[in-house]
Amino acid sequence: MKQKSGLTNNLSRRGFIKTVSAVGAATLLAPFSSHVLAAGTINKGNAFVVPPLAPAQRNGQQVSFNLQINSSQHQFFRGVNTPTLGINQSYLGPVLRAKRGDTVTINVRNGLNEVATLHWHGMTLPAKMDGGPHQAIQPNQTWQSRFQIRQEAGTTWYHSHTMHQTGRQVYHGLAGLFIIDDDGSDQLGLPNDYGIDDIPCTLQDRRFNRDGSLNYLSRMPDRMMGMQGSTVLVNGVVTPTLEAKRTVLRLRLHNGSNARTYQLAFSDNRPFYVIANDCGFLERPLQTDSIRLAAAERIEILLDVSDKKQITLKSITSESNSGMPMMGMMGMMGMMSSQELDIMLIDARQAQPSQRKIPMSLRQSSLVLNPKKAVTTRKFELEMGMMGRGGMMGGGMMRGGMMRRGGSRDAGSGGMFRINGKSMDINRIDFAVKRNSTEIWEISNTSPMAHPFHVHNVQFRILDRNGIAPNAIEAGLKDVVLVHAGEVVRIIMAFPEYSDPKIPYMYHCHILEHEDQGMMGQFVVV
Ligand code: C2O
Ligand code: CU
Ligand code: CU
Repeated sequence: MKQKSGLTNNLSRRGFIKTVSAVGAATLLAPFSSHVLAAGTINKGNAFVVPPLAPAQRNGQQVSFNLQINSSQHQFFRGVNTPTLGINQSYLGPVLRAKRGDTVTINVRNGLNEVATLHWHGMTLPAKMDGGPHQAIQPNQTWQSRFQIRQEAGTTWYHSHTMHQTGRQVYHGLAGLFIIDDDGSDQLGLPNDYGIDDIPCTLQDRRFNRDGSLNYLSRMPDRMMGMQGSTVLVNGVVTPTLEAKRTVLRLRLHNGSNARTYQLAFSDNRPFYVIANDCGFLERPLQTDSIRLAAAERIEILLDVSDKKQITLKSITSESNSGMPMMGMMGMMGMMSSQELDIMLIDARQAQPSQRKIPMSLRQSSLVLNPKKAVTTRKFELEMGMMGRGGMMGGGMMRGGMMRRGGSRDAGSGGMFRINGKSMDINRIDFAVKRNSTEIWEISNTSPMAHPFHVHNVQFRILDRNGIAPNAIEAGLKDVVLVHAGEVVRIIMAFPEYSDPKIPYMYHCHILEHEDQGMMGQFVVV
């Protein structure tokens, strides 16, 4: 099999020329290129790295973790130091792991000289423990978050949620996984040897400058489409090679990208089995040979490699531009994520026979969400400046801050990115919901591109897309739903017992540049 290093990917000459002709060489921060590398640095595939488990102090069901946010340097390319942000390490953070029923205490120290936050994405918890923009941690301060885990086993994650800085901070490394186990989750016969046959994979796309630094928001479409790059990292490693140790692998695939939607498939189109999505198990493994994974989504899959071949996990096309007439232009400009990308290689030649089989069934979730119980249906309209009420393209884009360099600011109701006509204002609570109540949210997307919509504090189910029930793979518990251009998606959720009349939770587009520019709102639970 032909192996490409991330660098060669990154340097694809065709991509480079396309880009130059589209934006003009003068404004271009050239992508990181080979001439800064000494001979021998183009290697035959980087080794896969299993993210370390965060050390936990456990006392019965009390579990505590210490996280330290740092600025750092990380070698994505051998011999080249890239300035990064990290949590207990140089890029990304360790995997937190705890069990349903545990009360976790997480001490987060901010060692940066800027404000930071860490939000527990996918977690049900009191608003003041959520780690959103209202729990800003000042430099050299420690924030303590404590909550009981009351939800089912699943692969959740954590990341920076700093007002207007989420995109940049996550892009440079402020993210990690948080795995929840429960009493039944180890009884399902699934691969569960961490790092051996139960393998977390955080997928991120990045763009590098000539000097090895991360390139963020340098091109016109970066703010509009969200930040995308053609170098793919898995757990912070450029297109790694995973030497499979067992013939049945459980991959916890997490899209930790700022914006990109992947359409995942294996190079030989082999089938695989989806066993869980964002917040828990499906009722049974579902066989497929390709699956879409939007920003912030997670799926767990079982992969049979007993034929001991070498295969590549790829993104075959991106769906992020589907249904976007005007985005065809962006695709031609080489700005869009329509290209095929190699994500990681899996070399199963040395894999040992696994005791595990693909189970016939998993289990039913105990979280019942009954549409008849819904007390209200709320409507959310996702809008972008050039197509929504905000007026025509140029005006909306300019006002919304697309042309501005550095952090964007609140643009009020005239902003480029809006929900129900309003851009995020940290001093405005958009609505209140009642604790223990069930609601239906109807999200319609009147913009020309897809947006992954996320709600804090709940696990929801998708009721329908344009009136049609979702496919079975999307039927599990979720906290992110991709809403395509022109689509109306209905989700149902039950708000837990936690309430706080003052401190809100967020709902937003998980394209982090959209969130930072205003496609976000706040609700309280009373
Ligand atoms: Cu993944 Cu508001 O967050
Ligand atoms: Cu979240
Ligand atoms: Cu968006």
